[in-house]
Amino acid sequence: MERTRSLWLLAAVLAALGQCHGSSSEQCSGAVAVQRRVDCHPQPGASQESCEARGCTWCTTDVPNAPWCFFPEDSPYGYSLGGNAEKTAKGWRVTLNKRSQLSLFGSDISPVVIDVEFQTKDRLRFKVYDPNRERFEVPLKIDSPGVAAEDTSYDVEFTDDASHFRIKRKSTGTVLWDSPLVDLFFSNQYLQITTAVPSTSVYGFGEHEHVSFKHSMDFVTYGMYSRDQAPTPNANLYGVHPFYMCVEDDSNAHGVLLLNSNAQDVSLSPNPSLTFRTIGGILDFYVFLGPTPENVVQQYTEAIGRPHMPAYWSLGFQLSRWGYGSIDVLKETVNRMHRYDIPYDVQHLDIDYMERRLDFTYDKENFAGLPEYLQELKKAGMHNVIILDPFITKDEEPGTYKPYDLGEEMGVWVNNSDGVTPAVGEAWPPGHSVFPDFTNPRTVEWWTQLCLEFKNVLDYDGIWIDMNEPSNFLRGQFPGCADNDINNPPYIPSISDRSLAQKTLCPDSKTYLGEHYNTHSLFGWSQTEPTFHAAQQATGKRAFVLSRSTFVGSGKHGGHWLGDNFSQWKDMHYSIIGMLEFNLFGMPYIGADICGFNYNTTYELCLRWMQLGSFYPFSRNHNAEGNMEQDPAFFGAEFAKISRATLRIRYSLLPYLYTLFYESHVHGNTVVRSLMHEFTSDQQSRGIDTAFLWGPAFMVAPVLEEASTAIKKRHHTG
Ligand code: NOJ
Repeated sequence: MERTRSLWLLAAVLAALGQCHGSSSEQCSGAVAVQRRVDCHPQPGASQESCEARGCTWCTTDVPNAPWCFFPEDSPYGYSLGGNAEKTAKGWRVTLNKRSQLSLFGSDISPVVIDVEFQTKDRLRFKVYDPNRERFEVPLKIDSPGVAAEDTSYDVEFTDDASHFRIKRKSTGTVLWDSPLVDLFFSNQYLQITTAVPSTSVYGFGEHEHVSFKHSMDFVTYGMYSRDQAPTPNANLYGVHPFYMCVEDDSNAHGVLLLNSNAQDVSLSPNPSLTFRTIGGILDFYVFLGPTPENVVQQYTEAIGRPHMPAYWSLGFQLSRWGYGSIDVLKETVNRMHRYDIPYDVQHLDIDYMERRLDFTYDKENFAGLPEYLQELKKAGMHNVIILDPFITKDEEPGTYKPYDLGEEMGVWVNNSDGVTPAVGEAWPPGHSVFPDFTNPRTVEWWTQLCLEFKNVLDYDGIWIDMNEPSNFLRGQFPGCADNDINNPPYIPSISDRSLAQKTLCPDSKTYLGEHYNTHSLFGWSQTEPTFHAAQQATGKRAFVLSRSTFVGSGKHGGHWLGDNFSQWKDMHYSIIGMLEFNLFGMPYIGADICGFNYNTTYELCLRWMQLGSFYPFSRNHNAEGNMEQDPAFFGAEFAKISRATLRIRYSLLPYLYTLFYESHVHGNTVVRSLMHEFTSDQQSRGIDTAFLWGPAFMVAPVLEEASTAIKKRHHTG
């Protein structure tokens, strides 16, 4: 207890010193120091009145993004221990009781239970849940022995005064996790927990476009909720990965997963600390002790599933564009790629190959002869990838469109809140669309059958599953979302539009596994595994699945690209960060659209991007409809020569790349990794994200700036 108090005192003194040095113009005496504030009004619209009404302190500050409304030192909220820990087969269990009648968002649950499981020597799980009512839990199976592991590298304890829950690294005594129980919230639609972290070297959390690999801890909040959203710094994007890695001051590393699929956010504060907020499910944490960054990812993927082993051909260069518009343009493009002798193995077909954007059809006018052409490409040693979207029009003449008729018969759609009528929205296909519910085993049957049958029409080698956040071009399905607590919860995390229904379905829609409220961010994840098996069955070969929406464990069955980026220099830089992060998330088959998707590219940008992209694990040049062409054969001989040269370096190293993928599949290694990952004790390496490594042995340091021919030595802060 003495130690706890002195740590807090030290923190308070340090914080006060910080203020003397002008980091804040805060005037409030006795208030919690700015660095240590935990936001008591995370939803917008805080005022002194609303803040004080909830028993919190209001104190303005000029520190950017620091909360003005925060929990006081003697916060009345949170929980206290309801007795001694009870031993269980896997670890121990304690009951916690709510401390007061006050409530932030209503429907508080008390008691709650913390179960601690000593799963392996280096993996610990602790979950906070309601002992009296089942709540949604993510259906990801994480194997663990039925008994507590011995000789663990961690200790778990409450401080002597029982006010904090802590996890320590035994070998160094470093406190990896430290949660004050007064900062714990567990209500029906609002769960919150805060932890101190042992250093400011924090990486991960996704999916976002982060502007640095190492996070800023200056009161930054990241929302997580899958969304059809072109990369915009810090916005919640297509997938959800509530996983971070922290490198401790002595260079040991640990990782933490919050296994929760509800809309959520996490705030990073300078103390340094993290505050997790989610609006459903349970607080289910897994801690991985490392101690090297590589060990952390190995242990993480051991739990969530090792990355799949990609086919060798899929490590070759790939070409795509939305908007070839016709088979003639496609052929012309393919021919010039060959004419310029660009190393090239895979051709993608975006939605324009379809008839009126209907899944499992092809455009027999503009793409007449496509089946034969794909065969021809295959004979020449190429491979083909086709796109499929997760919406099926319901407005074709009955009996003319099997995907709808069969799906309707089998009852495979996401339903409205009544659980019976299908949710109807609007997407690419003409008319209105319904949405297959991949959490339903019948949907898996339906999808598999269609994928197998379509293989006889178009001889594909891989499947690209797009728009599976799921995307819907409306705010909720027809006729809009009812006004209830599921659709409009008391707290909406820090996500774009502060809306759970914008560009998707209403949260109260019903899926086989439960309310869309809980399963929304699992949509793409639930589609990936059945598509992987369908592709494997259809081709009789190793499967290729590329998914836009991903969740914890998606790497086992698919790869990912970083979505609809822009043809801008900064996007090139951010693509390195995204690629490094997806390697932490156990999805090493990753790349960004080379030359940029949105906007017209330029000769110079595209050339530099071809050079960088030649070293993406998933190397594909892709472009949006309406933009100028940007394949590496388009810009003429000089461009082609340079692209050919870098791609040839890639190809000469393919055995190495393939071996790295093997290591990732078998041992969970990263394929691409940051310099920090290998040179962890070098403080300078902590912030480097303009260069990266393939495995331990090959560094890529691309030119990322316009009009430059050399790499500047940058100063990186540790
Ligand atoms: C959105 C995807 O992100 C993009 O890659 C694709 O080209 C379009 N949908 C059209 O299918």
